[in-house]
Amino acid sequence: MLKKKTKEKKTKRKAGASAETSEKKIKTYALLRGMHDILPREEKYWKNLYHIAENLAEHFQFSRLETPLLEEANLFIRSIGKGTDVVDKEMYIFEDRDGNRVALRPEMTASAARAYIMHGMWNQPQPVKLWYWGPMFRYDRPQAGRFRQFNQAGYETLGDADPVADAELILVAHNFYKDLGLPVEIHINSIGTSEERQRYKVSLVEYYRSKRSYLCDDCKQRLNKNPLRLLDCKQERCQPVKEDAPQIIDWLEEESKNHFTKVLEYLDELDVPYVLKSTLVRGLDYYTRTVFEVFPQAIGEGGASARSVEQSEIGRQSALGGGGRYDLLVEEMGGRPTPAAGFSLGIERSVSALKQYMDANQIKPPVQKFDAFLAQLGDHARRRALKAINELRNSGLKIDYNFSKNSLKSQLEVANSLQVPYALILGQKEVQDGTIIIRDMESGVQEIVDQKKVENLLKKKLSRFDDDKK
Ligand code: HAM
Repeated sequence: MLKKKTKEKKTKRKAGASAETSEKKIKTYALLRGMHDILPREEKYWKNLYHIAENLAEHFQFSRLETPLLEEANLFIRSIGKGTDVVDKEMYIFEDRDGNRVALRPEMTASAARAYIMHGMWNQPQPVKLWYWGPMFRYDRPQAGRFRQFNQAGYETLGDADPVADAELILVAHNFYKDLGLPVEIHINSIGTSEERQRYKVSLVEYYRSKRSYLCDDCKQRLNKNPLRLLDCKQERCQPVKEDAPQIIDWLEEESKNHFTKVLEYLDELDVPYVLKSTLVRGLDYYTRTVFEVFPQAIGEGGASARSVEQSEIGRQSALGGGGRYDLLVEEMGGRPTPAAGFSLGIERSVSALKQYMDANQIKPPVQKFDAFLAQLGDHARRRALKAINELRNSGLKIDYNFSKNSLKSQLEVANSLQVPYALILGQKEVQDGTIIIRDMESGVQEIVDQKKVENLLKKKLSRFDDDKK
């Protein structure tokens, strides 16, 4: 009996196996959790953000720094600090084949400081102003606006202790979103020097200990591990405790107070609006004095204000960017005493906030503008068309085309949807005659011209749009 059952099972397995082979199942791959593709339809946004970041860098004289994605793990552990979420929970750390402990960079300020020391940048005229754009990695809990690989644009000013450097960086952040057309709110605070913060922490811990029973589990842990992060808690039950907590500003000595006042005066002078935020402390350990964060001003029409958004659970994810002063970092990493400040912006979050804002306000995304669309009919024309497109491109004209469509009607429909001012039409007859048709897409008027003259003629016709712009 037992033998019979086993035999049956075997036969079933066999049948299953042969069905699988006949279906020829090929494994498809999914993305790793928290990773995402940036698809062609996103390109217009990403390109725009990159242009703005690059133009601002050029204007405010930040030079491009690129560093490896992989660095010694200790570089980040020492600079960002044990007890922070990034170091304790979110680092991609592993051993390479030589047994070195390496990490995928979770941010780039530590790498910038390492590069500054390693390449002797203190020998250059100070400050040294660096900017970067690239992927960062954090093993975060993936959700809206939180990825495990994401991109940042960042700006760092090393070798300048003056409040003007803080203000200049905040101005760059402000201009970034102004150029993008996304209304934001900048939250700002001072967390003082490490001595001032130490004294403040004592009183903060004392206060929170007396309220221990009202706190969420995370805050109970923060109380021992990283008390400043108590101020960052978004849990409903901790809000009343947080509201009455001692404020760091009252622990600042004269010099720190003056520094902060001057930063604010600069911002007033520059007409850069800001919100004073006594609970803003940032999640990385290297900060001293000025800290700031950028939030979208409104989510959707009639949506929540920046303040209520920031206080909610999605608040932490909706910070578009942040930064501050880190006067001790370079020295702590073995360099000379070098006051410094900087900030970075999350690109994914900025693109997503921009899209939400555009949707809510019915703003259309920018479309790529072409000078003309080249339509072709027949094999000979197609061969000639590719050459013509290349020649026109080399002369500086932007020509679109679609070789997968054969009928003139469908090609002109594409031209119409692209809103190009002119279509160039090349049929068999035109190829034989060495001519091409220029069609005004608005009026429908067509003229036959010599192929050799089309470039100049088209440029002349297009120049009327330049006159319109004046
Ligand atoms: P951060 O606040 O950790 O600061 O990150 C800056 C921005 O990166 C955030 O505001 C957010 O937009 C984006 N970001 C962070 N984590 C994620 C994530 N998991 N998914 C998507 N976006 C994320 C820094 O990184 C500092 N290095 C800033 C700085 C530069 N301070 C001084 N200089």
